[in-house]
Amino acid sequence: MDYYLKCNRCNEKYGSSYAGQICGSCSGLLEVQYKKKVRPSLDAESFWDYEDQLPKSQYRHYLLGMTPLARAHGDGSLLMKMETLNPTHSFKDRGSAVELAKAAEYGFDEVVCASTGNMAYSISYYSKLYGLRSQVFISTNANKDKINDIKSVGDAQVHWVKGDFNKALAQAEDYSRKHKAFLTGDYCYRKEGQKTLAYEVMQQVHDLTHFIVPVGNATLISGVYKALRELKAANKIRKMPKIIGVQASGCMPLVRAFKLKKPVSYERPHTKADAIAVGLPTFGAQAMEAFKETGGYAVAVSDRELEDEKKRLYENYGIVAELGGVASLAAYRKAGIKESGRAVAVISGANV
Ligand code: F0G
Repeated sequence: MDYYLKCNRCNEKYGSSYAGQICGSCSGLLEVQYKKKVRPSLDAESFWDYEDQLPKSQYRHYLLGMTPLARAHGDGSLLMKMETLNPTHSFKDRGSAVELAKAAEYGFDEVVCASTGNMAYSISYYSKLYGLRSQVFISTNANKDKINDIKSVGDAQVHWVKGDFNKALAQAEDYSRKHKAFLTGDYCYRKEGQKTLAYEVMQQVHDLTHFIVPVGNATLISGVYKALRELKAANKIRKMPKIIGVQASGCMPLVRAFKLKKPVSYERPHTKADAIAVGLPTFGAQAMEAFKETGGYAVAVSDRELEDEKKRLYENYGIVAELGGVASLAAYRKAGIKESGRAVAVISGANV
């Protein structure tokens, strides 16, 4: 769909030929704004049926998305959105397919990103499919096993960063400026691709009360919120489910901000849930808005609870997922959501 980009901070506008993902005037975050009202389809049969609702580009139609919604044991009040079944075993592929198409369209031959692991894996895979080189900046605290995945599917060059994800992010942005590489990662185009997860869920279940989403950089949760707003504005759903954001108790800047009713501020990560170890979520403010507007909230779960949940998922269903990938299930149990309606827990990744 035709669109323009608007800076969240200074309101500067850019046309769709602007080949950047952050504001050229103030370095603020950009947001994709469509020129016509978005009318998401609720009878899609493939990810690419959403193409008209995505930023106009030269998409290549790779297989992804349309992941199953599995019913958990019990009375059917818990459904699991199996994002582990995407090509690189996490929801990240939805966003990568969109932003790598933009990089190719603008004529770049190299892309760069910062990641806790899964996004780099996905970007390495899609950049190879699009014929682009990729550079990925990863904290030395990241799960080293994910590096094998990244190298096995593409030619990404890995840059180790002494420090956490936010330090890697600064270095990736710096690399993009110096080497004129297209900046990929948690920015506006990825968010658009990740909206499709919520379109699918709302097509798959009609009486949803809780949408439980793990939070790292908060791109997924803000994409879910944007998709629900679009569906509501197009009268495709009557009411938005409550959005519940989940973080590890060793890295919970959003949970703290929600409890203290304060802006989100940096917190040094101390958790084994490496995928969601992000000390300052890029889209934190939008996640806070999602809680407010949907009556949702933020929940913290301990590494111990995550380990137990991961074990339980394997023992009960034979499903492999990583610690960050089962955070939504741990939150469902901990926050007593069972008593109050029908929930979807996003099983976000399986790279262990
Ligand atoms: N679950 C998994 C498995 C992830 O890899 C991530 C994020 C999230 C949840 C949270 O999503 O960042 O949009 O809030 N991983 C990023 C990465 C940070 O680099 O792979 P988010």
